[in-house]
Amino acid sequence: MQSTSPAFSSQRRDGKRPVGIAIIGFGGLIGRRHTAHVLSNASAVLLAVVDGAPGAAELASQLAPGIPYYPSVSEMLSASATADKSTPEAAIVCTPNAYHVSVALELADAGVHLLVEKPLADTKAAARTLVDRVHEMGIKLLVGHHRRFNPYVVAARKVLMASEEKPDTAVGPGVGSVTAISGLWTTYKPEPYFVAAPWRRSRRQGGGPVMINFVHEVDILQYFLGPIVRVSAEKILGRVGVGASDADAAEDGAALTLRFASGAVGSLILSDGVVSPHFFEAGTGENPMLPRARRPLYDHLDESDNSKIERKEQEEEPVDVYRIFGTHGTLSVPDMTLWTCGEKPRSWENELKVQRVELNDDPRAPFDRQLDHFIAVVRGEVPIKNGPGCTGEEGLRVIAVCEAVIEALDDAEGGRVIVDTHYLNNTYESQINRW
Ligand SMILES: NC(=O)c1ccc[n+]([C@@H]2O[C@H](COP(=O)([O-])OP(=O)(O)OC[C@H]3O[C@@H](n4cnc5c(N)ncnc54)[C@H](O)[C@@H]3O)[C@@H](O)[C@H]2O)c1
Repeated sequence: MQSTSPAFSSQRRDGKRPVGIAIIGFGGLIGRRHTAHVLSNASAVLLAVVDGAPGAAELASQLAPGIPYYPSVSEMLSASATADKSTPEAAIVCTPNAYHVSVALELADAGVHLLVEKPLADTKAAARTLVDRVHEMGIKLLVGHHRRFNPYVVAARKVLMASEEKPDTAVGPGVGSVTAISGLWTTYKPEPYFVAAPWRRSRRQGGGPVMINFVHEVDILQYFLGPIVRVSAEKILGRVGVGASDADAAEDGAALTLRFASGAVGSLILSDGVVSPHFFEAGTGENPMLPRARRPLYDHLDESDNSKIERKEQEEEPVDVYRIFGTHGTLSVPDMTLWTCGEKPRSWENELKVQRVELNDDPRAPFDRQLDHFIAVVRGEVPIKNGPGCTGEEGLRVIAVCEAVIEALDDAEGGRVIVDTHYLNNTYESQINRW
């Protein structure tokens, strides 16, 4: 039974009850962002911040002044048993990957609705346990694959949903049937990123670019094209001296081949050890902590004399990250260039028509839009099913693919691995029937 604090029970101007939220692991990189978003959301009340790190109490007083701080979820739940504190109705779990499930299970058992940062868990077995418990407890679970709320992803999905049978007025049949996708997630994470949180390069603790970054790519690729059923992978050589002698060192990157259930194929380069602008965050500018990369247009390119290169600052292009190839066209994201034959017959002899796909005009950060959706789901205003948020079962599918990639990476022959669907429960298929 939840007790109710004055803040928790107050009505907002829209007459709706604000949702009381706790942030678990608030002091980390992503926990700070969620804390700021909850504090600025008129439909939410930040009820507690939790983090066991030394110095977290002081950090709480700076980031969330006046908000109750606890060093652990158990202490937060015990405190909420007293008269003057309320059990949060919902929590955002921002701990390192290996602690998502233990923390989320404790909260689920107390009836707290969950937004768990990606990946849902560090193994599919752990994810299965959590998804089942959430189901038993009748609580709601979303996974923090926030890119689904990114305007570029929203616009790209709209193009992909268009077809010959259901053409969109703006983009006609879009790219038609998707047959292939190529993608890049390539950047350089500097040493302090790993020193600040050593789990980020530990395979055992769910670190490495497959479990930290590629999870986002997998969710988006499956959101676009349906389930990935088979993968193969080749390791990229690691940085000299970085975890070289440590058996627990996570991969630096990989070249991957993917097969989708639809028959489409994909290839993707993933690396956090190369200097490159070709990664989603730089391409879209969605992460306020990472600068946006833009490709300048050159008026005049004379490689023998750099001073002769003139930049047209006003006409910079976003860099591309994904190219999605179909029977009727190709879409490049996030520059949102759509190449088709227009009204002409499809042929390599015809000059292609180039279109810039318009973005959804909601300028708010995807994290804000994800939080709005989570709040609406918690309040029961929108169903989880068929919504834009990533459900537990979909989060589990992402992990199944990432585990297959890691298995393929560990195979010296770059072996092909069938994505294990043993852990995917068809009982919940209805939650993912958008495919
Ligand atoms: N959605 C995104 O774009 C995005 C970006 C970065 C990280 N993440 C995800 O967010 C999670 C956290 O990543 P990070 O880089 O912020 O990690 P981090 O190491 O910077 O922060 C984790 C925080 O959790 C705290 N913590 C650890 N165990 C805890 C426990 N049992 N109870 C309470 N607090 C605990 C730590 O003290 C630390 O402050 C990871 O799952 C990561 O994959 C998501």
